[in-house]
Amino acid sequence: MIAYGFSEYGGPETEFFLDVPIPDPGQGQVLVAVHAAGVNPADWKVRAGNRKDSVPTLLPAVLGREVSGTVVQVGTHVDGLSVGDHVFGSTAAGHGGYAQYTVLNASNAARKPESVSFVAAATLAVAAGTAFDAIDQLALTSGATLLVLGAGGGVGSAALQIARARGLKTIGVASTHKQEWVRSVGARFVPSGEHFADSVDTVVDGIFDLVGGDVLRSAVSLIKPDGPVVSVADSMLAASLGGSGVTRRRTTEAYEAVAELVANGTLHPRIDQVFPLEHAGEALAAVESGHAAGKVVIEVT
Ligand SMILES: NC(=O)c1ccc[n+]([C@@H]2O[C@H](COP(=O)([O-])OP(=O)(O)OC[C@H]3O[C@@H](n4cnc5c(N)ncnc54)[C@H](OP(=O)(O)O)[C@@H]3O)[C@@H](O)[C@H]2O)c1
Repeated sequence: MIAYGFSEYGGPETEFFLDVPIPDPGQGQVLVAVHAAGVNPADWKVRAGNRKDSVPTLLPAVLGREVSGTVVQVGTHVDGLSVGDHVFGSTAAGHGGYAQYTVLNASNAARKPESVSFVAAATLAVAAGTAFDAIDQLALTSGATLLVLGAGGGVGSAALQIARARGLKTIGVASTHKQEWVRSVGARFVPSGEHFADSVDTVVDGIFDLVGGDVLRSAVSLIKPDGPVVSVADSMLAASLGGSGVTRRRTTEAYEAVAELVANGTLHPRIDQVFPLEHAGEALAAVESGHAAGKVVIEVT
């Protein structure tokens, strides 16, 4: 099969197309013919070697951590999934998503509702799933105000919509060209930049951070005492400021719940760009720029 990966840790110059055998699903796993693969900042961070401790990688490696597709082979000890099922989820350890086939653990996969496209489903495990887990973890009550830093990217665009559906008031910090979209999902728009905090004239009940660094440092001055802070961009900084990272569930149940939000019209995955597999490098470069306007997806078949 054809896949897109990297040969050694480093920059985009280490990326190349691989011609490798179709993998075999092991115990508890399914082999999936990939229709679409989500592209995430984690992909280039793994390639750059920033995740060597948390993501053990045998080189050369296939890029990508989430897909949607059709089950074409079922390993042993798999309940509830059959050949022909349309599924989405996180790729199993040692497998990547930018490929014609990949392997998912059945416990980290869910059936795709028929009304949800393969392209949309390919964005649910990482970005929407992270937003879903973080908003549960923040545990704010209806009517509370949530500040989202980096609101116009993959995770932020899902977070604004999920938070609103929970009855939260939302404030989204993003660059000016994203203001219309931020407002379109019911959030108050605050332009990003050094002095963004000056434009927030209310005490916020919780913060969801997708940016980290000085942006997060400035934002904590806006939160009520002991208000929850969750950062998926800089969990160590968040911890030093009294907050935390996110605990990801990545379970079938959590993924089913996220897919149901799409199926029932609560969540509209914001797809920024779709590239064919032949242009996988451009897809990753678009995300690596750090200014994606929603999700970037690779369409494989
Ligand atoms: N732990 C986990 O499980 C997990 C899961 C998913 C993501 N993450 C991490 O979460 C972060 C965000 O992921 P993502 O998928 O949403 O990335 P993304 O789609 O690239 O979006 C990042 C957004 O941050 C915004 N941004 C950059 N600098 C900013 C600033 N100074 N102020 C305000 N906004 C700024 C960009 O918007 P503008 O163009 O408007 O600046 C961009 O839309 C990444 O660090 C990623 O690795 C972690």
